Amino acid sequence: MSLRKILIQGDPALTKTCRPVEKFDQKLHWLLDDLKETLENAGGVGLAAPQIGILRRVVVVEDENEQMIELVNPVIVDQSGEQEGWEGCLSVPNQYGWVNRPNFVTVRAQDREGKFFEVSGEELVARCFCHELEHLDGHLFVEHTGELYTPDEIDAMEAEEEKGK
Ligand code: NI
Repeated sequence: MSLRKILIQGDPALTKTCRPVEKFDQKLHWLLDDLKETLENAGGVGLAAPQIGILRRVVVVEDENEQMIELVNPVIVDQSGEQEGWEGCLSVPNQYGWVNRPNFVTVRAQDREGKFFEVSGEELVARCFCHELEHLDGHLFVEHTGELYTPDEIDAMEAEEEKGK
């Protein structure tokens, strides 16, 4: 396993449509292990293969119990409800936007051996499924929001709102 460099917005790899995985071999297992190690090291909740320059449909997402879910060739098969909240991305460092997402999302994917399974998530996990899967088609969360803010700016805005109450 090794730590990979996370690509930053502006890198062309982040705008590409990724190809499906066809071989569930050692190379895929290394990719999944590297994604997990890189995500853990970065302290994020999800990471997609194109973010480390690999144009394959592979993502890892942390669930509500902080367990990593490996998703190969994932597709959203069901979604419902609505949530709104701050969202960020390891490829857009220190910038957050207010983004609406479905509150419940079910994904169908394959595991590292190629076996199909379904997994459902709500709230942050549902948000993360949507966010990571979009990376596989070259999209970033910034497309869903008007303005981006730093954590300091968000703190200041929230303090301002508190005062108004
Ligand atoms: Ni992201």
